Amino acid sequence: MKMWAGRFSKEENKEVNDFNSSIRVDSRMYKEDITGSMAHAFMLGKCGIITSDESDLIIKTLEEILSDIESGKLEIDYEAEDIHMFVEEQLTKRIGLVGKKLHTARSRNDQVALDFRMYTKKEILEIKNLVKSLIKEILFVSKQNIDLIMPGYTHLQRAQPILLSHQLLAYANMLIRDLERLDDCYKRTDYMPLGAAALAGTTHNIDRFIVKEKLGFNNVTLNSIDSVSDRDFAVELASAISLIMMHLSRFSEEIILWCSWEFKFMELDDSYATGSSIMPQKKNPDITELIRGKTGRTYGNLIALLTMLKGIPLAYNKDMQEDKELLFDSIDTVKECLSIFTPMLHTATFIKENMYNAAKKGFINATDLADYLAKKGMPFRDAYKLTGSIVLDSIKENVTLDEIKIEKYKEYSSLISDDVYSAIDLKNCVEKRLSFGGTSKEMVLKQISLLEEELGK
Ligand code: ARG
Repeated sequence: MKMWAGRFSKEENKEVNDFNSSIRVDSRMYKEDITGSMAHAFMLGKCGIITSDESDLIIKTLEEILSDIESGKLEIDYEAEDIHMFVEEQLTKRIGLVGKKLHTARSRNDQVALDFRMYTKKEILEIKNLVKSLIKEILFVSKQNIDLIMPGYTHLQRAQPILLSHQLLAYANMLIRDLERLDDCYKRTDYMPLGAAALAGTTHNIDRFIVKEKLGFNNVTLNSIDSVSDRDFAVELASAISLIMMHLSRFSEEIILWCSWEFKFMELDDSYATGSSIMPQKKNPDITELIRGKTGRTYGNLIALLTMLKGIPLAYNKDMQEDKELLFDSIDTVKECLSIFTPMLHTATFIKENMYNAAKKGFINATDLADYLAKKGMPFRDAYKLTGSIVLDSIKENVTLDEIKIEKYKEYSSLISDDVYSAIDLKNCVEKRLSFGGTSKEMVLKQISLLEEELGK
């Protein structure tokens, strides 16, 4: 028999019950639901809406329900409509009439908004920790490989020499911004909605600030209609997660390329790679491919959430029950991906020679030759053009810029002298990029210490 059966003259159709039920999704919020109810019962007692004995009994029984669920003594009944109904039914089963008083001055509309916010807050902190671990890992790997030179790319064409550490730290910077986004999202999730009741508030003399304090919220919501209608926080988290996944996906794509024989810049540890069922030679970077593949589902969840919300009038509509499945899927996905990415990176090795050899080819010091000429007084545009023709000749003659003889260089321009070789030496090309944020070791070390500082905040 449904709690709301009073208004109805027929039992609910079984299929309708299953279709309507959200307990398979929202049962994971059992702890939030129970602690939220405890705070509500405490407040009802404090405000004299129920007696303090009743309040104490409700709280004690809710505690028992919580520990029974956690110990496995009480199994969640998936026939129930949702976790809120299940907990309340359990309470009433255990303490009868008094249990029925818990829902005074409350609706499932504000209750679900409360539980969802509490759950989201908890998950944001967990995701933040996983992101922090990955940033720490990137900093560690960058320090370990601080001197490795590789080609930097644009359009996937070799562009300029860079330090591998600099490239890796680019991802650390993205992830730092992801942390900021999570913090930002947390701030707006940290509003306590209970007390909005169904939508309009309540005639009972409640004190919402007691509940806010008990549950450790920073604020209470200001408008009861908004309190039960707002899912911005879920959209924001789904969006922040999509960005994290996009960053992981780009990083993954790079690792996939670097593990290929065409690049062979790195090697994954055997325990973080997989084989083929037919090709004995294969070692596949499945983890990174899966992360790249799973990114799409987090985008899908974000768009589904936005679309679900866009046409619904105020206040609560059942459409909104879809919110949790979507956000939970994004949360699970990003946590799973972060958890596996970090140790995968930790155990991977970078192949210095291959990176360096790749950096030596492809004329990635051509900008430095043009800069050299510009520093000697040639207007940069002319220097650029002349270097372009030197590169073209070198391609034809199959030589690299540092293999060109000085006599030949002098034929190109009288401005060129012996110091050209040091100007286009790969290590020097990197080391001289001292502009703030540049790829020189000095700047990379500075970047690492600033990131460490940021992470320590
Ligand atoms: N299971 C519902 C949800 O997740 C709880 C709120 C139901 N409220 C209602 N009036 N039907 O959204």
